[in-house]
Amino acid sequence: MKVVLLGGTKGMGRALGRLLVGKSHDLFLMGRDEADLARSARDLEVRGNRPAHSVKTAACDLARPETFAPALEAADRALGAFDTVVVTAGLFAPQDELEADDAFTARMLHANFTGTVLLCEEARKRLLARGGGTLVVFSSVAGERGRKPVVLYGAAKAGLTHYLEGLDHKFHDKGLRVICVKPGFVKTGMTAGLPTPPFAGEPEGVARDVVRAIDRGTPVVYTPGIWRLIMMVIRMLPRFVMRKIGF
Ligand SMILES: NC(=O)c1ccc[n+]([C@@H]2O[C@H](COP(=O)([O-])OP(=O)(O)OC[C@H]3O[C@@H](n4cnc5c(N)ncnc54)[C@H](OP(=O)(O)O)[C@@H]3O)[C@@H](O)[C@H]2O)c1
Repeated sequence: MKVVLLGGTKGMGRALGRLLVGKSHDLFLMGRDEADLARSARDLEVRGNRPAHSVKTAACDLARPETFAPALEAADRALGAFDTVVVTAGLFAPQDELEADDAFTARMLHANFTGTVLLCEEARKRLLARGGGTLVVFSSVAGERGRKPVVLYGAAKAGLTHYLEGLDHKFHDKGLRVICVKPGFVKTGMTAGLPTPPFAGEPEGVARDVVRAIDRGTPVVYTPGIWRLIMMVIRMLPRFVMRKIGF
């Protein structure tokens, strides 16, 4: 595969990039921190046994939609027409912190919904123009139901999940494979400092689940897999129960 990855400098994106390069796929990294991108590219070259400076990068910031088209064009030039776009980038803060910080809330909502959707639109037009391809986007189990600890973050991820489902329905026959990844709690920088709940996952396990989903064309991936069952129960709970519990 020729894979464009936004978010590959940290957390689950970094684990996924390492796994992909280890499986001999070609990678192009996009991100907002150029020094971090360069460091990650060198790391991937070593891990993938590639020549120095063969993993290319481009600046791309979910808060700045004007960066999307130039970054994807640079990816095409470097890879020779990419066939897969992966977006793991996203922002999070606990609900209490978001309620106390309107400016960060606006940035989080924009990055996780508007920015991500606009980037996906740029990517899917390019993929469809070449007969199809795969779009893998990290949403969250937080988008499954309105829940007290993730009212704002979950709302953005719910919108993103619906967008990805619609995209799958509309363009599947035209060759677009859309994969919506719904991690549960995963131990990364994003969740550092939060109490670790049962069934917490590791980024490497998520990466393996995502590569398997790409290979099989699975449209929705809960990872770790136990979260499929957990969320099935949560979706069935009546509203009066949801008002009482802290989950
Ligand atoms: N960890 C969890 O438990 C969990 C659970 C459910 C869903 N998720 C979702 O899974 C995805 C990956 O999460 P993670 O835990 O791996 O997060 P992470 O370790 O915090 O990494 C997030 C990545 O997103 C990038 N990013 C943030 N804002 C950006 C922007 N405006 N433009 C471009 N890149 C930006 C970061 O780059 P910088 O270095 O520049 O900040 C970083 O590379 C996210 O979408 C997250 O919402 C995570």
